[in-house]
Amino acid sequence: MTVAAEEPFSLIIFGASGDLTRRKLMPALWSLYAGRVLPEPFTIIATARTGMTDDEFRVRMRAAIGEFARIQPPSEAVWERFARALVYVAGDPTDAALYPRIERALKDAEAAGASRLFYCATPPSLYDDIIQNLGSSSLARPVGGFTRIIVEKPFGRDYASARALGRQLASAFHEEQIYRIDHYLGKETVQNILVFRFANGIFEPLWNRNHVAEVQVTVAESIGVETRGAYYEEAGALRDMMQNHLLQLLCLIAMEPPVTFDAGPVRDEKNKVMHAIRPIEPARVSESALRGQYGPGFAEGKPVPGYRQEKGVAPDSKTETYAALRLLVDNWRWAGVPFYLRTGKRLAKRVSEIAIRFHHTPHLIFRRSPAGVEANSLVIRIQPDEGMALTVAAKTPGPDLRLGPVRLDFRYGEVFGGEPPEAYERLLLDAIHGDATLYAPGDWVEKAWQLLGPVLDAWGEAAGPPLYPYEAGSWGPAEAEAFIARDSGAWRRP
Ligand code: NDP
Ligand code: BG6
Repeated sequence: MTVAAEEPFSLIIFGASGDLTRRKLMPALWSLYAGRVLPEPFTIIATARTGMTDDEFRVRMRAAIGEFARIQPPSEAVWERFARALVYVAGDPTDAALYPRIERALKDAEAAGASRLFYCATPPSLYDDIIQNLGSSSLARPVGGFTRIIVEKPFGRDYASARALGRQLASAFHEEQIYRIDHYLGKETVQNILVFRFANGIFEPLWNRNHVAEVQVTVAESIGVETRGAYYEEAGALRDMMQNHLLQLLCLIAMEPPVTFDAGPVRDEKNKVMHAIRPIEPARVSESALRGQYGPGFAEGKPVPGYRQEKGVAPDSKTETYAALRLLVDNWRWAGVPFYLRTGKRLAKRVSEIAIRFHHTPHLIFRRSPAGVEANSLVIRIQPDEGMALTVAAKTPGPDLRLGPVRLDFRYGEVFGGEPPEAYERLLLDAIHGDATLYAPGDWVEKAWQLLGPVLDAWGEAAGPPLYPYEAGSWGPAEAEAFIARDSGAWRRP
C-alpha cells in the first residue's frame, strides 16, 4: 500500500447505525488511518435514522474498533484525532429533506476541493431512493475532485431488478463512478489467485482440460443466519453467496490471462468466462442445482435451532440455506471439466477453498503398491488457515514400495506473519484511488443473474425441485453426494 497522500476526501455512509458499518467499514477505515495509508484530510459523514449526537456515534465506533479492528489505537490521542473527522447526521435516507442537511454538514466539515465517496450500506431495498435523492439533490455533482458511489451487494435480486437498479444508478452517475462491491475480491487469498496463476510460469501449462479433472469451490459457514433472519428469508444461499462470491471465484480460476492487471482487461476476461458458462436448461434444473435447509443440530458441541426456528424466519420457510451447482465452461480450455460450487450456513466448519483435482497418471508402473495413488490436487485455502497445498504421491519410508499422498503446504501466517489486511481496507482504498479492478462491473452482475435465472425460477415455484433437509453441523444434505457422484467425484471434507 502507498503512504497516505494529501488528497482531501469525504466519505458519506448511508445506514451508518448498522452492522456493516460497525463490524467492517469503520474498523477498516481506522486500520487504514492507523497504518498511515488513508489519504488526508478526510471527513466521514455517517447517516441513519437512529437519533445520535456526533459524540455518541464516536463512542459507538470506538467500541466497534475495540472489538473488530485489526489494529488497536496506540493511544487515546491518536483515536481522538481520527474521531474528530466523524460527523453524524440523523435522518431517513428515503426523505429528500435529509440531503440538504448532509450537504450543510459537508460544507461545515470537509476540506476545500474534497472528493466525495458515497457508500450505500443500508438494506438494498433503499438503494433506489438513495440514488434518486442523490441525483435530484446537488450532491452527486462533482465539487472538487471525484464523486463516486459504492453499492453493497446484493445488487438486485434477479436479472430484471439488477437492470432496473443499473438504470437508476445510470440516471445519477456515470459507469466509471459506480463501484459494486464484492468483499471476496478484496481478500488477500483471493487476490493471490491471479498472482499465483499469472506470476508463475509452471502452472499455466497444467491449467486446462488436459490436466484438470474437476474444480470444487466451497464456501462453508458454521454460523446460522444470526440476527439477519428477515434479510435471509428474502435472499437464500443462491442470492446471498452464489450469485456473487462463488461465481467470482470461479471466474478467477477459469479466466484467460488479461493483457495487464487493470480494471478493463481483468473485467473483460471475467465477462468472457460468464459468457462461456453453459446456460442452465429450465427443464433440467435439478441436474445443475441442488438446495437444502438446515434443521436443528449442533455447533461447537452446543445444540442449535433449525433455520425455521430462527428469529425472523417463517415456520414453513422454503428458503435454501445450502446451494450446490454443477457448471460447465464451454471453451477450449475447460470443455468437459465440471465446476462444482457449494455454499451453506450451519455446515460442519467455516472454510472457504478452491480444490483443483488433476487427472490420474495415464499408466501406473507401481503395480505392487496396494493402495494405488490418488490423483494430484491443488487446494487454495481462502480462509481460515490461509494458504495452499499441492498433494503429490511419494514413497513412504520402508523396505516395501508403498505410495502415499504428501502435502506441499504453504501457510500465509507462517511465511508472512501478522494478520493480513481486511478485504474492506483494500477495497475502500481502491475506490478512493479510483481503481475498480477488484469491483464487479454491471454487465458481469447482470450476466450472473441471467445464469441463475432458471434456478431462481424453479426454486421459486411451489412445486419446484425438493428442498433437502440437513442437520446443523453436518456437511449438508445427503443428496448432495449423489449430485456430485455423476462425474465419479465426491465432495471434499476440508
Ligand atoms: P442493517 O440491517 O444493519 O441495516 C443498516 C442500517 O440501515 C440500519 O442500521 C438502519 O439504520 C438502516 N435501515 C434499515 N431499515 C431501514 C429503513 N426501512 N429505512 C431507512 N433506513 C433503514 O444492514 P447491514 O449493515 O448488515 O448491511 C448493509 C448492507 O451491506 C446490506 O446491503 C448487506 O447485504 C450488505 N452486507 C452486509 C454485510 C454484513 O456483514 N453485515 C456483509 C456484506 C454485505 P436506522 O434504523 O438507524 O435508520
Ligand atoms: C456476506 C453474506 O456477503 O458474506 C453473509 O451476506 C456471509 O451471509 C458473509 O456470512 C461471509 O463473508 P466472510 O468474509 O465471513 O466469508
